[in-house]
Amino acid sequence: MVLAINFFASLVLLAKAKPTGPHTMVVHESRAAPAEGFVQSGAAPAKQELTLRIALKQTDIAGLQGELYKVSEPTSKFYGQHLTAEEVAKFVKPTDETLGAVSSWLSENNIDAKPVTPAGDMLEIKIPVSQANVLLSAEFSVFTHVETGKTFIRTLQYSLPAPLTRHVEFFHPTTIFARPLASRPKFVAAGPAKRVTPVLPGSCTSTLTPACLQELYGIPTTPATQKSNTLGVAGFLDQWANQADLTTFLTTLRKDINSSTTFALETLDGGSNPQNRDQAGVEADLDTQYTIGIATGVPVIFISAGDDNPDGVSGFLDMISLLINDPSRPSVLTTSYSFQAETDLPLSVAINLCNTYAQLGALGTSLLFASGDGGVSGGQSQSCGDYVPVFPATCPFITSVGSTGLDQTPGVGEIGSMFTSGGFSNYFPIPDYQAKDVAAYIAWLDSLGTIPEDGRYNRSGRGFPDVSAQGENYEIVVDNQFGTVAGTSCSSPLFASVIALLNDELVAAGKPTLGFLNPFLYSSAGRAALNDVMFGDNPGCATDGFFGHAGWDAVTGLGTPNYTALRTAVGL
Ligand SMILES: *[C@@H]1O[C@H](CO)[C@@H](O)[C@H](O)[C@H]1NC(C)=O
Ligand SMILES: *[C@@H]1O[C@H](CO)[C@@H](O)[C@H](O)[C@H]1NC(C)=O
Ligand SMILES: *[C@@H]1O[C@H](CO)[C@@H](O)[C@H](O)[C@H]1NC(C)=O
Repeated sequence: MVLAINFFASLVLLAKAKPTGPHTMVVHESRAAPAEGFVQSGAAPAKQELTLRIALKQTDIAGLQGELYKVSEPTSKFYGQHLTAEEVAKFVKPTDETLGAVSSWLSENNIDAKPVTPAGDMLEIKIPVSQANVLLSAEFSVFTHVETGKTFIRTLQYSLPAPLTRHVEFFHPTTIFARPLASRPKFVAAGPAKRVTPVLPGSCTSTLTPACLQELYGIPTTPATQKSNTLGVAGFLDQWANQADLTTFLTTLRKDINSSTTFALETLDGGSNPQNRDQAGVEADLDTQYTIGIATGVPVIFISAGDDNPDGVSGFLDMISLLINDPSRPSVLTTSYSFQAETDLPLSVAINLCNTYAQLGALGTSLLFASGDGGVSGGQSQSCGDYVPVFPATCPFITSVGSTGLDQTPGVGEIGSMFTSGGFSNYFPIPDYQAKDVAAYIAWLDSLGTIPEDGRYNRSGRGFPDVSAQGENYEIVVDNQFGTVAGTSCSSPLFASVIALLNDELVAAGKPTLGFLNPFLYSSAGRAALNDVMFGDNPGCATDGFFGHAGWDAVTGLGTPNYTALRTAVGL
C-alpha cells in the first residue's frame, strides 16, 4: 500500500513534463471480429464510465526472467536465494522516460491515473466512453456473450499517439473477449451426511480419500511444524469455502486431526466468503478440504477474488499483486480456474500475466494451476479442429498439473484421465528446462506414422502439463452432503499440498522453500522422484488427443509425486 501511495506522488510530479503535442495515431492492437460466441449489439453509451488499465513497458523483464532461473535451477549457486519485492520491482517498474511520456499525455487530457500493481507498471484510469473513443481513436461498443447473455464494452481496435507506442504494452480491457472461466467440477451427491460407499481406510479401490492418497503417494500424516509456511488457495466466480462442510469432512475422513481446523481468509476486488451452508461452492470446498486434509498442519489461506475490477478476469492479476505486496505471502498457491482457451486473452495480456507469475516465482512462491478439463479441446469440452491450449497452464513460469486415475489392470496402476488437458502453447515457446523432453515426445509421436492427430498442435510451443496427480472420484462434502468430484481441480490442490509439506520440512531444516518448481522437477533428481505415468490419452476435437508415453508426455507430464523420493531429491 505504502509503495503505491509513494508511487502515485511521483507520477503527479512527472506529469509536469513537457507537453507532447499533436501526433499521428498508430493502431496499437486490433482484431477483425469479436471472438466466437460474442455478437456486437450496438454502440456503447457515450456517458458510461470505463475503467481502463494501461500496462506500461517494464524496465527489464528479460532480466527478471534470468534472475528467476538463477534462483530456481538446482545446479545454480544462487538456488533458493529468492528475490525481495524491491529487487523484483527494479526489473518490472517502468523507466522514468516511460512514466514521463505517459503521465504528461494523460495530464494533457485531464485524466487521473493510479497505479494498480506494486511496481507501478500498470495504471488505472476512469473515463467516459466518448473520451475513450477520442483518446484512443477507438469505437467502444456493446458486445453480448450469446451463451450467458452477459454484455461487455469492448473495441475491435485502438490507436496511440506515435511517440507513446514504445512506452505502452496495451490498454485493457479493449480487444479482449474472454469467455467465462472454466472450473466447475461436477459434484455427484450421495445424500445428506452419508458416505458414498463404506470403504476400508487407506484403500483407493472405491472413493479417493485423504487416507488413500497418503498411502498411494507416501504423504506423511504427521502435522507440519512451521507456522510461517502457508498454502494459498485461489477462489474466483463467487465460489465460497464452507467451514461447516470442512468440519464434517475432517470429522469423517481425517479423524486423527482437530476437526475444528480452519482456514484464514484474504479477499480482494470485493471478494467475500459467506458461510450459509447452501452457498458452499463445489470448487472451493474441494480445494480447502484437499489442502487442509492433505497438507496436515500447514496453515491454509483461502484467497477470494470478487468482480470489482475492470473485466472480472483482472482478478487473476490483482491476486498476484496482493501477494507480491504481502511479506508473509504463502510459499505455495494452487489455482483450479483457467480460461477456456489461450486465445481468450490477447497475446499481450497473456504475456503480461505470465510475467506477473514470474515475479511471484522469483519471490519464492510455487504456483500450481489445474491444467484444464476438456482434454485437447481446452479448459472444458468444446468443438475444435486444431487443439486448444489452456492458459495459464501454458505460461512457462507456473507448474501445470494434470489428472490421473487408477486402472485395475495388473501392472498398469495410474493412467492419464481422459478429461485432462495437455498439449502445446501457441503463445509461449518451449522453455529450456523441458526442451529435450518435448523434442523426444514429438519425435515419438512422429514415429507413429500418419495419424489423425498430426498437424493439430504447435511443435514449437511450451508443452503442458508439467506433472499430474490423481483427479477422479474424490470424496468431498458440499452443503452437508457427501459426494464425489473429478477434474484437474482435484489434482492441483493435492500436488500443492505435497509441495507445502516439503516446504515445511525445508523451513524446519533452515533451508529455503522451493519457489518456482519446474527447473527442479525437470532435473534428473526431480523427475526420478515422480512416478512416470505411461498410459492414457486425452481425447478432444474428434481425435484421440495425445498419448501417454515413457518420460514426459502431453497427458500426464513427468508423472505423479512420490513423497519419500521427493524428500531426498530436495535434499532432506
Ligand atoms: C481445535 O482447533 C480449534 C480451532 O483452531 C481450537 O480452538 C481448539 O482448541 C483445538 N482443539 C484442540 C483439542 O486442540
Ligand atoms: C507456435 O508457437 C510459436 C512459439 O510460441 C509461435 O511463435 C507461433 O506463432 C505459433 N504458431 C501458431 C500457428 O500459433
Ligand atoms: C517411492 O520412492 C521410494 C524410494 O525413494 C521407493 O522405495 C518407493 O518404491 C517409491 N514408491 C513408488 C510408489 O514408486
